Amino acid sequence: MATEIGTIVEDGDSVLILDQTLLPTRLAQVRLSTLSEAAHAIRSMQVRGAPLIGATAAYGVALAMRADAADAALAACLATLAQTRPTAVNLRWALARMAALLSPLPQAQRAVAAWREAGEIAAEDAATNAAIGQHGLTVLRQLAIRGRPIELMTHCNAGWLATVAHGTALAPVYAAHAAGLPLHVWVSETRPRNQGLLTAWELTRAGVAHTLIVDNAAGLLMMQGRVDLVIVGADRVAANGDTANKVGTYLKALAARAHGLPFYVAAPRSTIDFACTDGAAIPIEERDRSELGAGDLSVANPAFDVTPAPLITAIISESGLSAPANLAQWR
Ligand code: MRU
Repeated sequence: MATEIGTIVEDGDSVLILDQTLLPTRLAQVRLSTLSEAAHAIRSMQVRGAPLIGATAAYGVALAMRADAADAALAACLATLAQTRPTAVNLRWALARMAALLSPLPQAQRAVAAWREAGEIAAEDAATNAAIGQHGLTVLRQLAIRGRPIELMTHCNAGWLATVAHGTALAPVYAAHAAGLPLHVWVSETRPRNQGLLTAWELTRAGVAHTLIVDNAAGLLMMQGRVDLVIVGADRVAANGDTANKVGTYLKALAARAHGLPFYVAAPRSTIDFACTDGAAIPIEERDRSELGAGDLSVANPAFDVTPAPLITAIISESGLSAPANLAQWR
């Protein structure tokens, strides 16, 4: 898509990321040259979104191997990166893939191999998300026959900013827009970090009609018949289809069920964690109290919630659509 800027781009020696803590007011890149800079970028949410976190972690390992490719350094960098954010399983998936490749290799080969593998993880993410977009497009085409714009609701930012390219929940939106399907997106603000502003920024750049709403307006809009479907991303999908995504997703799924609306989760297969039997086993990240801006008040700040599988119409991955109960087919 012409409007995309690289969320993560390597230049042979280091990695340039788009600093998402500055968006949507400032567009600026940050150079990552060390493991600690990569870990900081993930922890501080300069990069965010499950697939992009995974790609950044892979490059973090590659940067670490440049400095020291000994076994102890490999183990240390994997441990450091694994601790940055707990819920998005793509992080652990990417680290496991890097570890499986690098551990058996002689030290002298690790830096080159790590760099190449990180590049492959990034390239695969772009291709995967393009495929999600095409599978999601088939869902949207079925709604387009009504002869009026499709009214789609999303939550958080699962667009190209959250991935290496194309996005997950927004990939079908961009595919539909490219195919000329009339469509309008309801974008929820996503307190406390306002990732909805990132989604609105992306959609503005792409020329996709959209409207920003406060999180709590979602139920009213569904009740008024102004929403046709919901598509969200995911940070971790358990083996039974229970899905962790940005906090507030569950309430949208409940409201969608109450109003008979389809609720889709768009995510690459790398987001499915077959080691988690159900949603109760998914670790929920508790972020800093300062994000609420509530001074000394007693606060809780869980960053994700879990939508039970029965509330999900289907999961859209690069392999097509699956009922949450049938995810084992993608094992
Ligand atoms: O805390 P964030 O901004 O990293 O959370 C992002 C989300 O919850 C996304 O919906 C999810 O990672 C899917 S991104 C393609």
